[in-house]
Formats: sequence, structure tokens, C-alpha cells
Amino acid sequence: MNARDQLIDRLRRRDPRGALERALYVDPQIYQVELEEIWYKEWLFAGHDCELKSPGSFLTVQVGEYPVVVLRDRDGGLRAFHNSCRHRGSRICTTEHGSAPRLVCPYHQWTYALDGRLIAARDMDGGFDKTRYSLKSVHCASVGGYVWICLAPVAPDFEPLRRQLEPYFLPHHLHRTKVAFECTIVEEANWKLVWENNRECYHCAGNHPELCRTFPEEPVITGVSGGFANPRIAAKWARWESIGLESQYRLSADGQCRTVRYPLIEGATCYTMDGRAAVRRPLSDAVTEPDVGTLLLFHFPTTWNHVMADHATTFRLLPLSPTRTQLTTKWLVHEDAVEGVDYDLKRLTEVWMATNDEDRRVCQENQIGVNSPAYEPGPYSDVHEAGCRQFLDWYGTRLRQRLEAGAP
Ligand code: FES
Ligand SMILES: [Fe+2]
Repeated sequence: MNARDQLIDRLRRRDPRGALERALYVDPQIYQVELEEIWYKEWLFAGHDCELKSPGSFLTVQVGEYPVVVLRDRDGGLRAFHNSCRHRGSRICTTEHGSAPRLVCPYHQWTYALDGRLIAARDMDGGFDKTRYSLKSVHCASVGGYVWICLAPVAPDFEPLRRQLEPYFLPHHLHRTKVAFECTIVEEANWKLVWENNRECYHCAGNHPELCRTFPEEPVITGVSGGFANPRIAAKWARWESIGLESQYRLSADGQCRTVRYPLIEGATCYTMDGRAAVRRPLSDAVTEPDVGTLLLFHFPTTWNHVMADHATTFRLLPLSPTRTQLTTKWLVHEDAVEGVDYDLKRLTEVWMATNDEDRRVCQENQIGVNSPAYEPGPYSDVHEAGCRQFLDWYGTRLRQRLEAGAP
């Protein structure tokens, strides 16, 4: 049996009551199949519209083996390209962020317009046809301030994601924000362990003293059932929907994407040490109510998010190897908010900086234990870990569908 057939078999035999077997967290061949069938085929969160405000501004992202550049073109549109020169393949844009009127390859200076056309290639012979060497494009779309890319030749329909996100995100005007701070860390853990950790708060009381000041540990928050029966949540939803903020729990039919607005601990409006807003100027001119809870979005496999009245904290996860995962966190504030006047950077970032580091440590310890040949998966807590089960159900189903569709 080849690696793909073996993986189909493993996924068919998977026990959904607990975590995965060891091979799915450590095996390089399985990781490669995940890259090909999930990471190279799904819509992935790359960055924010606000990072690409003017023509020529770009950001780069590395998805598995693919370097990609996302940019704002001359007409104000967003485009993404394979960040690999059509001459001899060099990476063209080498920084995470930048701005350039044209893309110039650093190796031999082949030069591309912002629409990907090759416009200059020095000393190539007379028969050389520039039109045959445009940059290869990557699907790119944006909704609610979030820019997405898809590496597949034919991308999944983007419209369901657009329809789900717009009512929740448009009032927050994320396209009119700026990144006040960003931080990238590497976790020595498989990307699915990072997700499982994110999808439960069973570990919060024992590991997150800063987050627990404001984040309710109620299992409903990470769970999969919404919170319709919780009177406190129902009252908040009614209030927020009366001011035009979509709030009720929504899980996409395939389980890939959840949007919901939840209240923080009573009296808290923000993930700060005292629970009060970190930014004096509201994030959006259209949302002036100070307590709109936290708008939660997850979209597998790249992102989870918290949007509050005063700022947003967004997370982007990318796999680096079977046992290494990169996590980039960005704090968005109103584009006119001024550091030192409207917000203090330490106060804005300290809770999630600490929480990320605590999560990094628990995920790394998890990986070390899972590496042991003695590891066998134990059962999830029904009360606290329904979110992990939901994530792995999505993962297992999606991967199986793709593998079975491609099997002879
Ligand atoms: S590889 Fe880019 S110009 Fe030669
Ligand atoms: Fe955590």
C-alpha cells in the first residue's frame, strides 16, 4: 500500500472519541499528503486588506513548498502570484512586507508589472517572447478585511465564505484599520495539535492566568452547540443584534468555518489585564457601543480571531514541518489611532503575548509526549473538548474525501 492508501485506511479506522494516532502527528509522508490535499487546495487566510493599502504594497507568505506574494495592483485590486521568477526560479519578493512599483527579481533583475506581466529582461536574444513569462497567478479574494489565497488550479467556491463573514465583519471596518503590532512564533508541534489546543479551554485554568481574567471558561465558547440555551448569551445576542451586529452562532455546513459573538466575563470588554478597553478610539466608527463582546471566527486550517469594540486580534497558522508550526498574531486598531495617545502597546498585547507563549509550551510538551512509541490517544472530555472532536471530524472527512476522489 502506498502512503495515500495507508492514510485512507487510517482515517477510516479513526476513533472519533479522541485524538489521532501517533503517525498523523509525526509522519513526514502523511504531512506531505496533508500539504497536497488540504493546504494546497483550501482557501487560506494570508493577511489583511489594511496591510495592502496602496498600489505596489505587498506581503509574502510561505505555504509548504510554495512562496506566494499578495499585492495591491495599479487598479486597486488584490492579486496573488507564485513568488518564483520565470527566469531561473529565484524568489522575487524576499521580505514579509514591502512596497514596490514593479517586482524586480534580485538575481538578474527580470522585472514584472503589478499585474504579473514580464516587462523587462535584459540582454535576452531576439526571439525572446516576454509574453510567455508572466508570473503564475494564485487565486486571491477578500472579505471583511481578510485576504485569502488558494493554490489549487480550481479553487473551491469562495461565495459561501463571503456570505458567512460579511454580516459579522462589515460593521467592524477592518479595511480601515492598521496593524499596531505583529508577532510570529514557531511552535515545535504538529499543526493539528496547535488547532486541538485552540479548540478547547479545558487547559485554560491550569495554563492561562492572564487570559482567564476576561475569557469565560464556559465550554460553550469553544464548543459546537452555540449557546442558545444560555440566558446571559441569549440576552447579549438580542442586544447586539438590535444594534445591527450579527451575533448568533453559525457553523458552516462542512464544519470548516464558525462565526459567533460571545460576551467576555461580566464587566470585561477586552482581553486586557483589567478587562477594560486597550484602545481609546473605537476600532470602527460604526460600532460605538463599548461592549460588543468578542466576535470569534475560526476557519480551518489557517485562522482564529477575536474582534472587539476597540481592537481585533487575528491569528494565522502555517505548517513548517510535521512537528513545527508557525503562528502569526496581529493586533489591529483604528487606522487613525495613535500609539502612546490612544493605546499603550504593552497593555494592548500583553495578554495574548503571554497566552501564545503558554500555548506554545503546552503544544510542544504535547508533541514530545506524542512522539513516544508508548503514546496512545485517550478520550476527549465531552464537556470541554467537543471543539477538538469537531476539528478532527472536519479534518478526517475532508482529507478522506480528497484521497478517495483521487484514488484509482
Ligand atoms: S532568476 Fe530571476 S532574473 Fe534570473
Ligand atoms: Fe490556550
